[in-house]
Amino acid sequence: MNNQVRTVIAGIGSYVPDTILTNDQLAGMVDTNDEWITQRTGIKQRRVIGQAEYGSAGLAARAARAACQAAKLDPSQLDMIICATITPETLCPATACYVQADLGAAKAVAFDISAACSGFIYAMAVGEKFIQSGSHKNVLVIGAETLTRFTDYTDRSSCILFGDGAGAAVLQPAPSGSDRGICYTTLHTDGTGGDLIYIPAGGSRLPASAQTVAGGQHFLKLRGREVYKFAVEKMQWLLEDCMRACNLSPQDVALVVPHQVNSRVIESAADKLKFPLDKVLVNIDRYGNTSSASIPIALDEAWRAGRIKPGDTVILIAFGAGLTWAGAVVKF
Ligand SMILES: CC(C)(COP(=O)(O)OP(=O)(O)OC[C@H]1O[C@@H](n2cnc3c(N)ncnc32)[C@H](O)[C@@H]1OP(=O)(O)O)[C@@H](O)C(=O)NCCC(=O)NCCS
Repeated sequence: MNNQVRTVIAGIGSYVPDTILTNDQLAGMVDTNDEWITQRTGIKQRRVIGQAEYGSAGLAARAARAACQAAKLDPSQLDMIICATITPETLCPATACYVQADLGAAKAVAFDISAACSGFIYAMAVGEKFIQSGSHKNVLVIGAETLTRFTDYTDRSSCILFGDGAGAAVLQPAPSGSDRGICYTTLHTDGTGGDLIYIPAGGSRLPASAQTVAGGQHFLKLRGREVYKFAVEKMQWLLEDCMRACNLSPQDVALVVPHQVNSRVIESAADKLKFPLDKVLVNIDRYGNTSSASIPIALDEAWRAGRIKPGDTVILIAFGAGLTWAGAVVKF
């Protein structure tokens, strides 16, 4: 744990689109079935943005407004907006810039972070550093994704996984002397695993063309079985590391909020550490994998449901494309 000014989460909010895509509906689109998806992933349904006229920024702004409201902060008071996304509104400008304009947060500097499913924790860690330095006070961090717009609905091994949504949190300096707030963050990257989960075309390496679109190269590709093994190992390592770094035992932890990658990944990581499963939040059944949005959506739900109360210690752990993995310990 560090002894500098603590950074508290002053308010959380989330937003998911209304439209639900069930496993049975997917079974009408590709060769799959509810039983296979449920057993292998824990997913029963996911939210999809469909034909809405906006993308990730629209979801992000809705979540951001809810977070500002929870923090009793007018968006015009924001100093910084950091948006974690791998499904940006446009390649240029950053999604955070659209959010800044939408919120009317005129004095906030706004930029994106691309760290896939670890993105929200990366964004929190970056925001925390600005607050600790004293240069910024009201920092909005967002995880927002429209993965279904990058999903190949002819590929049964990946299209069952993803959903859309956004979550946001307002970070502020803790009152002096307070032990509440972010106690620990740990961020990691292994770029040699970049081709395990990636979108081949649409960037500078392979710009979008009629050929790339015809070949489906603008869709997210993943080598699920290989990712699975790595995810279990890293989720287990992160949980252990967070507890060790803050000298916590399972009794001290109110809730673990993991990235919702696959319920089997989450359960086996907890199992290996003999960590009680009733303290591990799983909502993948309702939302699927929403990448950077999954942790803040889950945090918002847990807070509103009273599963997280003031004073509780919560561990966040995530793993994703990059490869990236990240953890955080927060005292609410
Ligand atoms: C994708 C994932 C659910 C697949 O589960 P799995 O148990 O590893 O399944 P496998 O890929 O080994 O496939 C097992 C069989 O099911 C089949 N299968 C794959 N998708 C299927 C589907 N949607 N419905 C029915 N059968 C399916 C495969 O073709 C394979 O058949 P075979 O044995 O005849 O070859 C799992 O690997 C996973 O969750 N990986 C991580 C996901 C990820 O990368 N997320 C993004 C980063 S966070």
